[in-house]
Amino acid sequence: MTGLAAPWWQGGALRVGASGMHIGGVAIADLAALHGTPLYVYDRARMVGQIEALREALGTVGRPARIYYAIKANRCPAVVQCMRTHGGVGVDACSPREVALALSHGFAPEEISVTASVLPDRDLRTFAAQGVHLNLDSADVVRRYAAIAPKGTAIGLRIDPETRLGYGDATKLNYGGGKLGLAPEDVVAVAQLARDLGLRVDTLHLHLGWGIQRRDAPAVRTAFLRMRELAIAVGDIGVVNVGGGLGGQLRPEDDPLPPADWAAALRDTLGDLDVTLACEPGTLLVAHAGLLVVQVTSTFEKKSQRWAGVDAGLGIHVYAAHYGAPLSVLEVARPTAPPTHAWNLAGHINEAADVLGRGVGLGDLQLGDLLALYPAGAYGSSMASDHCLRGLFTEVLV
Ligand SMILES: Cc1ncc(COP(=O)(O)O)c(C=O)c1O
Repeated sequence: MTGLAAPWWQGGALRVGASGMHIGGVAIADLAALHGTPLYVYDRARMVGQIEALREALGTVGRPARIYYAIKANRCPAVVQCMRTHGGVGVDACSPREVALALSHGFAPEEISVTASVLPDRDLRTFAAQGVHLNLDSADVVRRYAAIAPKGTAIGLRIDPETRLGYGDATKLNYGGGKLGLAPEDVVAVAQLARDLGLRVDTLHLHLGWGIQRRDAPAVRTAFLRMRELAIAVGDIGVVNVGGGLGGQLRPEDDPLPPADWAAALRDTLGDLDVTLACEPGTLLVAHAGLLVVQVTSTFEKKSQRWAGVDAGLGIHVYAAHYGAPLSVLEVARPTAPPTHAWNLAGHINEAADVLGRGVGLGDLQLGDLLALYPAGAYGSSMASDHCLRGLFTEVLV
């Protein structure tokens, strides 16, 4: 049973007040009464605070730095607008429509960095017309882009991190050794191919994984060192982009790598190269700024297990079903009350996998009770589907 005795989630965006949980200083019950459920709520101050903290950490590296917000994490218009107006960051996009969305929010093409895989020619033509910088990851796509883009177009090369780290060891959670990125031993030859075909290779790119933990620090340093070696071997590299991957806690035992430690690894491995350092945070900036409020709509017992059914499911929040990643389930009215029962939390989709939590320690749940699923600011609404036509939800920024 997951106890709530030590509410590790308190602080940051979430507080407990007289009327239960608050996010960004606003009572969640009031938001639910106003907007209904299921309801995604995001705290603007937390997002801006995260950007500032990341900037501060990057400031210790001693190199010019750029932050590109990974828009795939959350493309709610109010969130993107917050990044634009309060964050002053660029955008990491992975599809022509993500680029179009960023452009529609006022980001200039040069503020957008595209890192995408398995790109058809039609995407490459659209990117060329949009005037954005691409990080590419195979000889095949380099050849096809060289035939489309004007001579002298700058590109980056994405490198396979060949490591497994972060929130878990499941294939879905890992980025090394799969379809993404060039094998490190192929990078110099592909860079030469690009140059022979009239492209300019100005960037090396790496995305390590999801939810990098403190225990991963040695692997992170090794990967950054390899970027250093490759930057020297390829030559004329102006930007080393180290992607996203910094996260927060999904459960009490998580111990995420602090941005300051990550920045120290950057300083020690890449700090003396004459390059700009870039990164693409998604989770770090928005995950813990958001939660999903749902309502208990049924309760039942089966083989002495308690089940609570709620008015949302895997269609609008895929963490548990798709990633097997745990979520904290908090009672909005009594988030710090000691748990009295273990509950399984059933989503309302007709799929056996649609279980949002198992054995969660909560109180004596009643119909109409509000629950908050946390964190839910990243890869929640942005991955939502309308499966079973159950995909409706509202999003608000406080
Ligand atoms: C290339 C790339 N950059 C950045 C990100 C953002 O990662 P995170 O949310 O872990 O910061 C991702 C996530 O999939 C990615 O694939």
